[in-house]
Amino acid sequence: MIVYNRIQELKKHLNIARSQGKTIGFVPTMGALHAGHIALVQKSKAENDITVCSIFVNPTQFNDLSDLEKYPRTLENDSRLLEAVDCDLIFAPEVLEMYTEAELALKLKKVEDLAWTEGKTIDFGILDKVMEGAHRPGHFNGVAQVVSKLFRIVEPHKAYFGQKDFQQLAIIRSMTKQLGMPIEIIGCPIVRESDGLAMSSRNVRLTEKERALAPLIYKTLYAVQQNASKSSIVELKAFAENEIKKEASMSLEYFEISDANTLEPIHELKSQQTAVACIALKLGAVRLIDNVVIG
Ligand code: PAF
Repeated sequence: MIVYNRIQELKKHLNIARSQGKTIGFVPTMGALHAGHIALVQKSKAENDITVCSIFVNPTQFNDLSDLEKYPRTLENDSRLLEAVDCDLIFAPEVLEMYTEAELALKLKKVEDLAWTEGKTIDFGILDKVMEGAHRPGHFNGVAQVVSKLFRIVEPHKAYFGQKDFQQLAIIRSMTKQLGMPIEIIGCPIVRESDGLAMSSRNVRLTEKERALAPLIYKTLYAVQQNASKSSIVELKAFAENEIKKEASMSLEYFEISDANTLEPIHELKSQQTAVACIALKLGAVRLIDNVVIG
């Protein structure tokens, strides 16, 4: 396994591989790797000749500075985990390798402000306005910015993302299509702890007491999924909101049931329709998200 910190060195390696007809799979991450990330790497290993995993805590997607500062950085352990599954290349750039000072100074506001669109008109429709988009202003612009940069550096054939960030996956699919990038975007199932908690790099920040409460999130989503055919959307939402409200250390940001393709909130589940129930809440100081697909 080779670790690259420099864009040009990674590109040189990948250009040689590409000229030999090798296929490239890419797993972008912010590090603090867990079994969910490792499953993405394993899938990429199975489907491509070379797998690149990037580890970069992207400052432009954090709308809360203290969240950025507290984000776990565990490069040594991450490298060990990636070595164990035979990942081929790690790309772990410094912030100034990825961004100019000017880009960092520009507080991302609108899609149109961003150089990453390369003059193309990008319209995410409601994809970046609902749920995470509404609660984390600028977040998806930062995600799209860094992922488009990473895609231009790695130029993978396939890129792998977890479905835990369901909305992020929709944004990345839309961005890739609108920028005309010839990359297959592959969404992979959520990996859960044995008690149901979705794996997340943020879980390590939960106190012991909070960790013991955290399975309530999936328990609630699971009950919603099981009752979806018997209850109305209003009833399902009221149920989920009440379950979370019962736990004093949890503060709900949103619980939404949306069409799984458009992310348009729905008021009634039609037959043949696939929906997604998404939740975001704070457990103590830690913000967690999760979702289940319905229908
Ligand atoms: O999902 C993540 O870890 C990040 O949002 C991503 C896609 C690596 C971009 O920084």
